[in-house]
Amino acid sequence: MPAPARSAWDYQRSEIRVLFDEAARTPGALRLEVGEPSFVTPSHIIDHAAEAARQGHTGYGPNGGLLSLRELLSDKLAGVNQIDAGVDEIVVTPGGMNALYSAFSILSEPGDEVLLPTPGFPNMDEMVRLLGGVPRFYHLRPANDFLPDFDELEALITDRTRVMFSNSPSNPTGRVYDDVVTQAIVAFADRHDLWLISDEVYDELVLDSTVTHTPAAWFDTDGRVISVFSFSKVYAMTGWRVGYAVARGDIPQLMRNTQEPQVSCPSTISQKAAEAALAGPREPITAMRDAYAERAVLAVQAAEAVGIRCYPPQGTIYMLLDLSDHGSDGGLDFALELLRERGVSIAPGSVFGPGGKGMVRVSLAADADTIKSGINQIAAHLRQRKG
Ligand SMILES: Cc1ncc(COP(=O)(O)O)c(C=O)c1O
Repeated sequence: MPAPARSAWDYQRSEIRVLFDEAARTPGALRLEVGEPSFVTPSHIIDHAAEAARQGHTGYGPNGGLLSLRELLSDKLAGVNQIDAGVDEIVVTPGGMNALYSAFSILSEPGDEVLLPTPGFPNMDEMVRLLGGVPRFYHLRPANDFLPDFDELEALITDRTRVMFSNSPSNPTGRVYDDVVTQAIVAFADRHDLWLISDEVYDELVLDSTVTHTPAAWFDTDGRVISVFSFSKVYAMTGWRVGYAVARGDIPQLMRNTQEPQVSCPSTISQKAAEAALAGPREPITAMRDAYAERAVLAVQAAEAVGIRCYPPQGTIYMLLDLSDHGSDGGLDFALELLRERGVSIAPGSVFGPGGKGMVRVSLAADADTIKSGINQIAAHLRQRKG
């Protein structure tokens, strides 16, 4: 048998998936590791998809998505995000992941450097390396409210820096960038002639009513911003795999071109489901967001009650706990030990890059009792370790 490509061994399995698999084998585990909404897809979306399948929408669709969905997305982007995007500037993809992959694949050459936040969405590091790029981390420090430090960013620029990745509302910090920060990020990209991939997949999951989501596209003057959105978390549709990118100029067509050899097209039935999500009632969507917001409050209370420092999320469905005062690095070994000894599964901070050291991420996708018991168990475990 021939050997697989040498580079194939460079890709690491996500540590969150390691925990996911271990937790699945642990009866009664409290599952706080994964960003899987605790809700099933609202029933009107499922019904519409089933009906669409019966009507024959079961074949291939165009690269970049059905026109009928892109028309609805153009309205959504105008109404929800105040982004003016024509149907040809929208590229529908199998999940936000594929929009990110297609964008990176057409924007960077092998050896190009890509600025990635840490703590940040772990899949990006692997994706950039898979495409031959070189990840360069910029820190989102708690002392700086998890905002980018522009002095650090300036110092990271080399003649190979080509793309910056930014994510707000942010996984895992829960931070939502305001318009001043967002504008500064776009201006930084402008100053250094970088592409800016703006991951806004949690755009409608702002939990704190005092803040609002600011799309990076608002400040884009020349088409350097590629915005990525998804149906996964906002509509509890992770398994349907529908996301989309908004871009200008040649970028949408170049992204559509990469779709054919990768996946041909997004699932037609899933796109029909996405149409129902956009055209249907808003109540089930806002009810889910309100439930996450309630759980965020409860999770903060639970952490404070047991003396664990936490960072109240303004958005997303996650919260970071800071265990560094308790002598834990929050790494994979700690997470596996916690699962083995206490039956609690969390995402280790190490998956979020060097900036995740000392932290762990809990998901607000679990129900309130699971979140509370999980945090209590983490505290009990930290006490026991200290002896
Ligand atoms: C920041 C961020 N971007 C993108 C994604 C990808 O989501 P999907 O491919 O399900 O749309 C996720 C999923 O967890 C995420 O947290």
